[in-house]
Amino acid sequence: MSGRVDRELWLGTRAHYADAALYDHLYRRRREDVRWYAALAKARGGPVLELGCGSGRVSLAIARQGVAVVGVDLSRAMIERAEAGRAKLPAKTRGLATFQAGDFRALRVGRRFPLVVAPFNALQHLYDRGEWEAVLAGVRRHLAPHGRFVFDVLLPDPIVQARNPARRFSKTRLLHPTTRRPFVYTEGFVHERQRQLLVIYQWLDDLADPPRRRVVPIAHRQMYPLELEALLHYNGLRIVERFGGFRGEAPSEASESQVLVCEVRRGARRRGPRGRVRRRARRAGTRRNPRTGHPRTRYRCRRAS
Ligand SMILES: C[S@@+](CC[C@H](N)C(=O)[O-])C[C@H]1O[C@@H](n2cnc3c(N)ncnc32)[C@H](O)[C@@H]1O
Repeated sequence: MSGRVDRELWLGTRAHYADAALYDHLYRRRREDVRWYAALAKARGGPVLELGCGSGRVSLAIARQGVAVVGVDLSRAMIERAEAGRAKLPAKTRGLATFQAGDFRALRVGRRFPLVVAPFNALQHLYDRGEWEAVLAGVRRHLAPHGRFVFDVLLPDPIVQARNPARRFSKTRLLHPTTRRPFVYTEGFVHERQRQLLVIYQWLDDLADPPRRRVVPIAHRQMYPLELEALLHYNGLRIVERFGGFRGEAPSEASESQVLVCEVRRGARRRGPRGRVRRRARRAGTRRNPRTGHPRTRYRCRRAS
């Protein structure tokens, strides 16, 4: 991995989330996913664990439904914004939301949840197999029996990937939500095939002070459906339901997102041959050396007197 790309990935996971007020402003009209996750939380019941909860867009909506939620995020700015949102919740739901700074690649919340969610492309900030494995192991550790893991990532779009990197798209004039300074927003795309990476550059041109320009990269790993399915499978999870968006629609060529509902695969609670050997030994009533699988001692069942 070259230094340039490392830096791109580091910035591409953080820069966009440093201005949490602007983040909320840019996505203020994105409500369908929020409603969908909140309804799901209400139907399944809590508590819910949200990985990459950001500014609390989804978590706060879940708490508003009367469901307890714990949100974890890497960005302190986003967590502070989520806390500010929590303070504005009605008193009877305020205590339902908890936010903590943390990395979902090393998840340690210390309890299990019937529902773990990772909305709005948060997992596209996992750039290699090791990172996916770490997250999926953490998910399994935090899922209660019969629990569900639900997340959405974008369906890779060859038209977006093929866009000319020199061109800018989606030109919009905006007022910054806190500074009230006018700026022009545009975005550009750079696709890297070997790493399956799409870097979206958000250009923020300040109109009140033209030389001031910020370019904010967002590095998204492109996740192809069959690759995702394989990753989930080999990490002990299985896809139960699959949608192409947040209206319950089936996946199609026109889908923007992949919305996946997963559960722990049968027989996959313990990973690898050790787990299998232990389970077989338990069934056979013998204790075995977990490394070799050879019988060690007979179990004796004590009768209740
Ligand atoms: C696109 S935002 C989604 C936020 C929120 N789920 C929503 O729907 O608005 C992705 C979030 O993932 C967080 N994130 C990225 N990598 C992370 C990691 N390794 N651990 C925890 N959070 C991470 C970012 O800080 C950001 O807040």
